[in-house]
Amino acid sequence: MHRFSVYLFACLILAACNKGKVEVFQDPMALEIPPHFPQPHYNFDGNELSEEKIELGRKLFYDEFLSRDNTVSCASCHHQAAAFSDPGQALSVGVEGRLGKRNSPPLFNLAWHPSFMWDGGINHIEIMPLAPLTDPQEMDITVPDLLQKLNSNLQYRYLFEKAFGVSTISDYELFLALAQFMGTMVSGYSKYDRYISGNVDFSSDEKDGLLLFRDHCATCHQEPLFTDFDFHNNGLDSVFLDNGRYLITLIQSDKGKFKTPSLRNIELTYPYMHDGRFSSLHEVLEHYQSGVQHSPTLSPLLEHGISLTNDDVEKIITFLLTLTDYAFINNPKYSSPD
Ligand code: HEC
Ligand code: HEC
Repeated sequence: MHRFSVYLFACLILAACNKGKVEVFQDPMALEIPPHFPQPHYNFDGNELSEEKIELGRKLFYDEFLSRDNTVSCASCHHQAAAFSDPGQALSVGVEGRLGKRNSPPLFNLAWHPSFMWDGGINHIEIMPLAPLTDPQEMDITVPDLLQKLNSNLQYRYLFEKAFGVSTISDYELFLALAQFMGTMVSGYSKYDRYISGNVDFSSDEKDGLLLFRDHCATCHQEPLFTDFDFHNNGLDSVFLDNGRYLITLIQSDKGKFKTPSLRNIELTYPYMHDGRFSSLHEVLEHYQSGVQHSPTLSPLLEHGISLTNDDVEKIITFLLTLTDYAFINNPKYSSPD
């Protein structure tokens, strides 16, 4: 054997061994956690990530077949280009043009959420899809009907078999697959994130805006996820059309409280608030400056509104625009599979 080929042979063996090692020790798939994020609330325990399962979740998310009359998919109200919110729609439209009761929130960093919905009425990502699937204003299908549809579809039978090794599809696998796709949608690469990791600088207005934000807003819209995941009344109304958190807890002091929304990608997710009442960030800031309505459950932080000059408002908005994550909205991993 030539010297060269001995060398080559040795390299090949080494490469093969290394490859073997990597395959044995490497976590096959892990949630990608931006370095400055805390640990997620949901870590896929009992729902180990796999490419097949995530892909299946993605297909389900984008498929109108999941609704009663094959007209509405999750993506009908959650658009990637708008960080999976429903831009321009105060309330979203479900089957037969039925109008929902609340504004569609964006979807990202869901693995960090301890609860879901504006009122926190759902406490686990693995049961989350049950609500939109069965809501008459959204997809309006019963679980048995949906399972019957899926089980009579050869392509889904094949994909569930490949991902979960089951020959009959149950709601268990359906929810796990959707949880894998939703739970792995991570938005943590905006200009703000790159600034925090020291990779890019802020303009002086952006820096001022961040400091003003930290002074006036960050108690509730806490960095780095821009929410404390708690429920507050931020003074939208003195008489509530929607009682929010109270509908879940039936505790008087929860009336008119809603989950603090994340402000990541806020530029894209208009209109704003649980009922989509404000169409621009200027309107939102005007509300905090001079529109706060008093009621017994108003957050003490907002008792006197938030005192901001017009220049402060412009700077805060300039800062909020750094939270748009173009990598997220353009990531092909989250786009429609068709
Ligand atoms: C007809 C529009 C519509 C459809 C279809 C729809 N959603 Fe939603 N989604 C909403 C609205 C509106 C809310 C807020 C509801 C509330 O708070 O009461 C919401 C809330 C959510 C939330 C909670 C987010 C948070 O921040 O708490 C998740 C997760 C979600 N939807 C996922 C899905 C999935 C998965 C599907 C498909 C199975 C789906 N949605 C279908 C409109 C829709
Ligand atoms: C007392 C806690 C609290 C403080 C302080 C606060 N917010 Fe909020 N914010 C909330 C809550 C709760 C909501 C959702 C209210 C609802 O929809 O009923 C909200 C909603 C918003 C929304 C709309 C988000 C969406 O997706 O619809 C924006 C934008 C916003 N706040 C920005 C700010 C800014 C900027 C400041 C500081 C000037 C601020 N907030 C201060 C709690 C707070």
